[in-house]
Amino acid sequence: MPVATTPPPATPAAPPPHKWSRRHLLGLDGLTAGEVRALLRAAAAYVPVATSTQTDTQELAGRTVATLFFEDSTRTRTSFTLAARRLGAGVVDLSSGASSVNKGESLLDTARTVEAMGVSGIVVRAKQAGAAELIARGVSCAVVNAGDGKHEHPTQGLLDLLTLAEAHGRQDALDLSGLTLVIVGDVVSSRVARSAIAGARLLGARVVCVGPPALAPASLAALGCEVSGDLDPVLPIADAVMMLRVQFERHEGSESLRSPSVPSPREFRTLFGLTRERADRLKPAAVVMHPGPMNRGLEIDGEVADGPRSVIRTQVSRGVAVRMAALRLCIG
Ligand code: NCD
Repeated sequence: MPVATTPPPATPAAPPPHKWSRRHLLGLDGLTAGEVRALLRAAAAYVPVATSTQTDTQELAGRTVATLFFEDSTRTRTSFTLAARRLGAGVVDLSSGASSVNKGESLLDTARTVEAMGVSGIVVRAKQAGAAELIARGVSCAVVNAGDGKHEHPTQGLLDLLTLAEAHGRQDALDLSGLTLVIVGDVVSSRVARSAIAGARLLGARVVCVGPPALAPASLAALGCEVSGDLDPVLPIADAVMMLRVQFERHEGSESLRSPSVPSPREFRTLFGLTRERADRLKPAAVVMHPGPMNRGLEIDGEVADGPRSVIRTQVSRGVAVRMAALRLCIG
């Protein structure tokens, strides 16, 4: 039997499964459709692990992720923590109460200090738009933006896109053309809306933002969406309605449920609230989304939030898969 003296010809390298080569995920605006699809494909593959209570992967074993939340958060922080753990990474949490930022240390100094302790990735939430980018420029580890002021919240945008794609059977092609996403309420204050608009436009969807002029000004059209001050005529064209919380804390001169930008909570609900009666006028396949936390009885009625069209719990669950994908692709 002749013995082979030359190695077998090398098999041509398989194309990379994901077109992602960035170190940071700072926003969806500025990414390509291919990059958004790469993140969503990776997220879709993680859904079984993300939704199981037992299965962990070891893909980031030995690595540590730091969560730096300088602004309140429950679901996003928990979701990133679970995502990192399900990838086998260790997690250190520095919420603002426990960190030196309250003693005047700058965001960047805090991030550099944490990096010097040997973390592979920093997940950051801050009040200042641009904070994640500032940190990304000053450290060499991966940075994932978990919400920076009114700017972007890219992992929320991705989980919204994945939920929307699944709800309309588009999870394979990840193409949303022909679908209309209607975003209602406090769009101007919303980093969730900015990321959702950028991502949905990249995947081909039409986006219509609806709200009173102070919360959905015509200038939002610069983001590539249409703007309307009237919800009722828009309802029949929606394939998904994303209700946003009125972010009173981000309105100047606002206290409790009062804001100079909102005529009155009751009027807001009458004109823009997603009541059962309005939900009944949606197309049969249209879904209802909300990033949470919800003001039940203001922008959305409890029976709609818990009703058959609601995919709000799916959004939360897809959040873990999306964050696993973001951490894996940026760190790995
Ligand atoms: C949003 C946020 O923090 O930007 N929530 C979230 O991440 N789940 C929206 C909000 O606070 O209303």
